[in-house]
Amino acid sequence: MLTQEQVVELLNPIQDPHLHTPFKDTGGIEEITIKEEKNHVSVKINIAQPNTAEQMQLQQEIVNVLKGAGAATVGLRFHQLPDEIIEQFAQQTGEESGSLLEGNTGTTFIGVASGKGGVGKSTVTVNLATSLARLGKKVGIIDADIYGFSVPDMMGVEERPVVRGETIIPVERFGVKLISMGFFVEDNSPIIWRGPMLGKMLTSFFKEVEWGDLDYLLIDLPPGTGDVALDLHSMLPSIKEVIVTTPHPTAAFVAARAGQMALKTEHELVGVVENMAYFESKLTGQKEYVFGQGGGPKLADQLGTEVLGQIPLQQPYEEEDIFAPGVYQADHPTGQIFLNIANKIVGKLE
Ligand SMILES: Nc1ncnc2c1ncn2[C@@H]1O[C@H](COP(=O)(O)OP(=O)(O)OP(=O)(O)O)[C@@H](O)[C@H]1O
Ligand SMILES: [Mg+2]
Repeated sequence: MLTQEQVVELLNPIQDPHLHTPFKDTGGIEEITIKEEKNHVSVKINIAQPNTAEQMQLQQEIVNVLKGAGAATVGLRFHQLPDEIIEQFAQQTGEESGSLLEGNTGTTFIGVASGKGGVGKSTVTVNLATSLARLGKKVGIIDADIYGFSVPDMMGVEERPVVRGETIIPVERFGVKLISMGFFVEDNSPIIWRGPMLGKMLTSFFKEVEWGDLDYLLIDLPPGTGDVALDLHSMLPSIKEVIVTTPHPTAAFVAARAGQMALKTEHELVGVVENMAYFESKLTGQKEYVFGQGGGPKLADQLGTEVLGQIPLQQPYEEEDIFAPGVYQADHPTGQIFLNIANKIVGKLE
């Protein structure tokens, strides 16, 4: 024979189908009556939305649980929860389901990291993003290089994001949605912030920006292995990483540290991009290895991953009407190399 306490314990963990919150928290169990002689349990339950298909399912679930625990028959009555309670929990769930940090949003996060600055991390980020968009993917970039932001400039973005109430609408260029610290700084003035603020800023880039559905979100990380990389790890344990290096042995050596950090934090390494790999003479077609040779493959070897591509030294075509100093055109040889890399990444991750 079931007691009231037992029934409460059995039903407490069951969730309100619309609020996705257990009855224990919504206070959804209003009244329990037990008729001993017939072994009959009847329960009054309050839910956010009675008389729906979800209620039918819930009914089944509750009847099964109670009968499984020994009740011969079960009677259920449903009413609506008070408005304040619905509002309280609806807000919580609403906020989280829209957030990219939820985990099951179907977005692949790719951090672009390097050991030291100036090796082309931002160049790789914007061109990979643009190439993924050229492949028909829905792509966003978070410029997480909070001090050294350069993505808006590289993509030739001059407008600012619109702030609508609590949410920020990202700027879009070449089919890529973009958010950067650079949007929130006046006149390129320097930013002096302490560690905890950085994490907060980063969180708001995920939570307060209206990204919509994204296939890929690329994150231009600050160089090195500092706080932001760690913060990012706690926010997105499933992030993948691309490591950028130049072919120079020192660059590769320092990049190995960023790679090791990725491995330590169990981020999956997608591969290495070797930037400024060579200079190809337009006249003779001859390749000159201006910064040395072998850094990329050596690094990939050390980290147990592959070289995704080698980018030569070359500027994008100059175009008068489109201002974007860092984005290679689709028909530019370097644009084609980036497209290959994007294809490889898609093949690897999908
Ligand atoms: N393959 C390339 N050919 C020619 N110029 C390049 C190439 N890659 C990068 N550059 C240029 O080199 C400079 C540094 O590149 P980028 O800003 O992408 O590096 P970074 O690693 O993001 O640097 P930082 O550490 O300052 O953020 C930029 O001016 C960029 O335009
Ligand atoms: Mg950069």
